[in-house]
Amino acid sequence: MFLTISGATGFIGRRLLQLYPAEQHSLVVLARKNPRLTPLIHYGHWDPTAGEPSRELLQRSEAVIHLAGEPVSQRWTPEVKKGIRDSRILGTRHLVSAIGKMRHRPKTLVCASAVGIYGDRGDHVLTEDAKPASGFLPDVCADWEAEADKAQEYGLRVVKIRIGIVLGADGGALASMAPLFRWGVGGVLGSGKQWMSWIHVDDLARMIQFAVENESLSGVVNGVAPNPVTNTEFTRQLAGALHRPALLPAPEFGVKLLYGEMAQILFASQRVVPAAAEKAGFVFRYPQLRPALDAIFS
Ligand SMILES: NC(=O)c1ccc[n+]([C@@H]2O[C@H](COP(=O)([O-])OP(=O)(O)OC[C@H]3O[C@@H](n4cnc5c(N)ncnc54)[C@H](OP(=O)(O)O)[C@@H]3O)[C@@H](O)[C@H]2O)c1
Repeated sequence: MFLTISGATGFIGRRLLQLYPAEQHSLVVLARKNPRLTPLIHYGHWDPTAGEPSRELLQRSEAVIHLAGEPVSQRWTPEVKKGIRDSRILGTRHLVSAIGKMRHRPKTLVCASAVGIYGDRGDHVLTEDAKPASGFLPDVCADWEAEADKAQEYGLRVVKIRIGIVLGADGGALASMAPLFRWGVGGVLGSGKQWMSWIHVDDLARMIQFAVENESLSGVVNGVAPNPVTNTEFTRQLAGALHRPALLPAPEFGVKLLYGEMAQILFASQRVVPAAAEKAGFVFRYPQLRPALDAIFS
């Protein structure tokens, strides 16, 4: 298969690349600087906020997977917020605009989005039909998806994967959580009642591949495992997997002091389920949290 991937250097992208061995696929990685992957993977320079990628880089592509974006898990200064927004909205706009100018276009665009679009929804079970919330992150996600949707006007099948908390050994949420638990200072956040919609990075990479290959899938797809858990349960399972106690609950005001506005994503309750992926026949390797954590820490 001929694929163009942005954000391939990131946590999710690196795992995704492993599903497409360069000996069997033609891969173009769009990145801001040459990641020097392997000689078989073609590097194409693209800074998503600066302008359109060269159409030559997309020329033979059957599918484009678009993952690039400024990391969200950092203190949201005004500059960082602008970076989070522009890298996604301008980036997707530039990408789709380049595709629109091509004579032979890719058939499919798989674009990242996030469960952050749902905001803070208590115990409500959220399928793809749930209404987006409003606020900084929900608005970014909605505008990001709207830019991706414009590729439909050019005849592409568009899949927007609303990604949950991605769990893996070499990045994502566990990279900051696991050390705290290893030092015995990890604990429940606030009331602990907030739902966490997680997914093992292997399952997410497989889901992206499934979305590329499964032509019946289009529109919004929740990129989460079928069994979200509360923060209390997540804390218990993580401490158990690391054989450490989870003693210290972190009070909401303290976390907000530390992380500022970004802390809202740690307390937002999102009980999201992967209705669309399961309906299309996607089978999870890690539907339950504890085996997912055990696989990561083994
Ligand atoms: N990990 C999660 O738990 C999670 C949850 C929900 C949604 N998502 C979404 O899924 C996508 C991939 O996530 P990830 O965890 O793999 O991300 P990541 O590790 O932070 O990396 C994504 C890539 O985005 C590019 N990038 C970073 N800052 C950028 C900027 N300011 N402007 C343009 N490009 C920039 C980088 O590529 P180059 O340096 O090669 O250009 C980077 O490798 C992101 O859009 C993210 O919002 C992730």
